[in-house]
Amino acid sequence: MEVKAFHWKGDHLLLLDQRRLPHEEVWLELKDHIQVAEAIKDMAVRGAPAIGCTAAYGFVLGIKSGERPERVYEVLRNTRPTAYNLFWALDRMMNAIRSGRDLEKEAVSIEREDYEANKRMGELGNELIPKVARILTHCNTGALATAGWGTALGVIRSAHYSGKRIQVWVDETRPYLQGARLTAWELLKEGIPHRLITDSTAGFLMKKGLVDLVIVGADRITAKGDVANKIGTYALSVLAKEHGVPFYVAAPSSTFDLSVKSGEEIPIEERSEEELKNCLGCPIAPEETPALHIAFDVTPAENVTAIITERGVIKPVNEENIRRCLS
Ligand code: MRU
Repeated sequence: MEVKAFHWKGDHLLLLDQRRLPHEEVWLELKDHIQVAEAIKDMAVRGAPAIGCTAAYGFVLGIKSGERPERVYEVLRNTRPTAYNLFWALDRMMNAIRSGRDLEKEAVSIEREDYEANKRMGELGNELIPKVARILTHCNTGALATAGWGTALGVIRSAHYSGKRIQVWVDETRPYLQGARLTAWELLKEGIPHRLITDSTAGFLMKKGLVDLVIVGADRITAKGDVANKIGTYALSVLAKEHGVPFYVAAPSSTFDLSVKSGEEIPIEERSEEELKNCLGCPIAPEETPALHIAFDVTPAENVTAIITERGVIKPVNEENIRRCLS
């Protein structure tokens, strides 16, 4: 059974608290834009498209509470800097209010369109997957990270349900463990064969010929096809290149930021040292040890075999093909 990360209830947003998964399923009742902003910042909800959808609902709640649109926009914007879907969704809500469109309908459309985009990416991406495939994925890009179905995990889902024999290698994804806690949970719920590995196992598996392809999601993609995604993605792309393994990215058009050309221009989120030095509430390093917690990295376009979007597959990845596909 496919899971859902959030439910719009008209006067509040029900949000599955992803920090508590997989051991507890706790739903938060968010009543205003401040609570939605906190949930995004603290990663009760995460994954670029899910952040965009929940911010849109947060915008509706903020306006209903009587707050000024510019203020609601600012509060929700200043939560996480890398995921482009957040800014894309908030800009769309601002445009809606300026042109007098119904805000609630706009947010519901953002959610519905994201779900449809994921289903379409699943179909298109499935054409790239062999009948029998060992697929490595990073972070969580499934129903929990989107309006449903998923981007990279959506392609894996579509391949599985089309009858292909899929085996998924799930990177645990340090330090937040989105792979171990969330991807494994989603795959288990649907009976999709998988096996959890530490992030550093990927290279050895590729060397042994045990990985047929890598597929990941994206938080922001530039005009020339550089891809910001969960820290560790760049290293995977280098390993894939070295071992001749195809490296695919699946992302909806709402993740593309055509205003920036190169990945160097993407703001990269740094999170607290504490998140790195503690694992599920347990200290794992000396308290005084300084740590650097970079949450995303950038994979250059030349390391990406193809980008799967709802509008088509971009291959080879370059500015001309991206603009043609998205126009
Ligand atoms: O820090 P997170 O958990 O929000 O990071 C999520 C990712 O990096 C995902 O790969 C990305 O958002 C694509 S989700 C469909």
